Order: sequence, then C-alpha cells, then structure tokens
Amino acid sequence: MPLFWRVVLTNGLVFVVGTLVLAFSPATVSQRVRTTEAAVLAVGLLVIVGVNAVLLRSLLRPLDRLTATMREIDLRSPGLRLDDQGRGPAAALVEGFNEMLDRLERERSATRAHALSAQEAERQRIAQELHDEVGQSLTVVLLGLKQARDRATDPEVVATVETLQETTRSALEEVRRISQRLRPGLLEDLGLLNSLASLATELTETAGIPVAKGFGPGLPTLGPETELVVYRVAQEALTNVARHARATSVHLGLTRRGGSLVLRVADDGRGPRPGGHVEGSGIQGMRERALLVGGSLRVGRQEGGGTEVVLVVPVEES
Ligand SMILES: Nc1ncnc2c1ncn2[C@@H]1O[C@H](COP(=O)(O)OP(=O)(O)OP(=O)(O)O)[C@@H](O)[C@H]1O
Ligand SMILES: [Mg+2]
Repeated sequence: MPLFWRVVLTNGLVFVVGTLVLAFSPATVSQRVRTTEAAVLAVGLLVIVGVNAVLLRSLLRPLDRLTATMREIDLRSPGLRLDDQGRGPAAALVEGFNEMLDRLERERSATRAHALSAQEAERQRIAQELHDEVGQSLTVVLLGLKQARDRATDPEVVATVETLQETTRSALEEVRRISQRLRPGLLEDLGLLNSLASLATELTETAGIPVAKGFGPGLPTLGPETELVVYRVAQEALTNVARHARATSVHLGLTRRGGSLVLRVADDGRGPRPGGHVEGSGIQGMRERALLVGGSLRVGRQEGGGTEVVLVVPVEES
C-alpha cells in the first residue's frame, strides 16, 4: 500500500477511535468550557497526538534506516545494496533504489571501460609516434654525426661531435624508454612476469631502489585485459614508490590465493600520510582498473611501516 494511504489510514483510525470514545463517554463540554472539562480535553488531545506519533514512528522508522544506508553508498566500491524491508512502506523504495544502483553501476563500469580503453589507445598512438617520428629523426642525426666524426680532423671538432653523439644516443634511449612505458608491447612479447621484472629493473636503475621479486608458483594464465590491469597497477605503484616513499627496498609479489590473483607492492618508506592520504589520479586510476576486471585495490600502511598496495583479481579456476 502506498505510504500516503498508510498515513491517512493510521491518522483516520486514531481520529475514529477518539471520536467513538468521546461519543460513548459521559463527558460533556459546556458552552463556556469549565476548568475540569479543559483538563479532560487536554489529556484526550495528548493521548490522540501520542498514539498517532507512536503509530507513525513505527511506520516511518525503516525510512530513516534507508536514508542512513543510502548515505554510505559509494559507487567506487560497488556491491552494497539496501536490505530487503519485507512488505513495509519502504519495500517499494528499496526495490527502486536497488534497481537504480544496478543501472548506475552498469553504466559506470561501461563508461570506465570506455575511458580506460580510450586512454590505452591514445598511449599507443603517442608511443608509436614517438618511436616512429622522434626515434627515426634521432637515428638520422646519429648517422650524420657518425659521418661528421669520421671526416673531422680537428681534435676539438672531434670532441664536440663525440659529445653530441653521446647526448643523441641517450636522447634516443630516453625516447625508447618513454615509448616502452606508454605501450607495454613487452607484455605481449615477454609475458606478464618478464614485464613486471623489467619494471622492477627499471626502478632499480632509475631510483636506485632494489626490488625483491616474489612470483608464486601455479600462477594462472590471464586474459590480456587482466594482464594489462596487473601491469599498469604495478607500474603506478612502483612509480609512487620512486616518487613519494623514500624507500630503501621494495617487494613486488604476484601470487595465487585460492580463486584470486594477488599483486602486492610493499615498500619500507615513510608510509602513507597519517590520517589517510589524499588519493590522486594515480591511486584512483589503479582502483578503476581493478574494478574493470572485477577486482579490488587496497592502499595502506603495512605492518612495520611503509606503504602497501594490494590488488586482488578473481581468476578462473583451472
Ligand atoms: N609508496 C608511497 N609512499 C608514501 N606515500 C605515497 C605512496 N604512494 C602514494 N603516496 C601518497 O599518496 C598520494 C597520492 O598518490 P597518487 O599516485 O594517487 O598521486 P600522485 O602520485 O601524487 O600523482 P599522479 O596522479 O601523477 O600519480 C601521493 O601524493 C603520496 O603523498
Ligand atoms: Mg602516482
């Protein structure tokens, strides 16, 4: 029954009972109300208002509970639904709200998937252009410099050209590295474990932080989408270690735990800021990617200090 009619009926019932009591009781009211009559009237009114309040309260209390749960709902951690309220007045509301959540979560995950795949495509394009355009131009410059070096006789010119060759070589190396980071082509060629190992090597080379790798046995074969998610999460977590952690060592682990694959990046640095850290686009991106493959991500302080990023992705039982 709609809430409106429930309220009307509850009120109506209270008024009817009040009227009947008045009609069949010996109570009378004079034209100029006497003090005793006023007292009886006041008590009667109080009783009516009180009964009405009690009845309405029990009718509407589920709505308060609903409101409280609604406030907790966060689309970034999907899956929370309002409790079934039986056949009470809130039941229709709960059903409608839960349906709306289903719809919003479906739409959000489609939008997310779309945004992330657009981002990957854009990265691919930039990586390709960097490699093909800038990389080619630098190679041409390098060849020219080599010819100039071979022909030069003046030792000063030779020294200058050699310096230029060195600079150009490291620029070329840099372009290759950036292009590699943008497009983990490695992933297809080398597989996930080797790609993760190369991320670890890169961190050691660029930031001087040793990485202890722990890749468990019996790792399942993953689909390309899941592999990319694991790779990108590890990449961002390791970048964060280099940028924020002031760590002296990092653990990079990939293990199987029951029906889940667990990626863990843990450093021994200063840990997340006390009072919870502000999530930047990096951590949010990791979270979104995790959701994309039905997984979850936790970033927090690990026992003994330092930060720990844990990605859990469900995998097919094989
Ligand atoms: N390993 C870590 N150790 C200490 N603090 C960290 C670590 N990882 C993240 N943080 C903190 O969490 C914040 C948010 O990280 P997040 O990756 O979301 O953003 P960011 O790295 O600052 O920027 P970007 O969007 O470029 O990644 C960081 O600014 C940093 O203060
Ligand atoms: Mg970051």
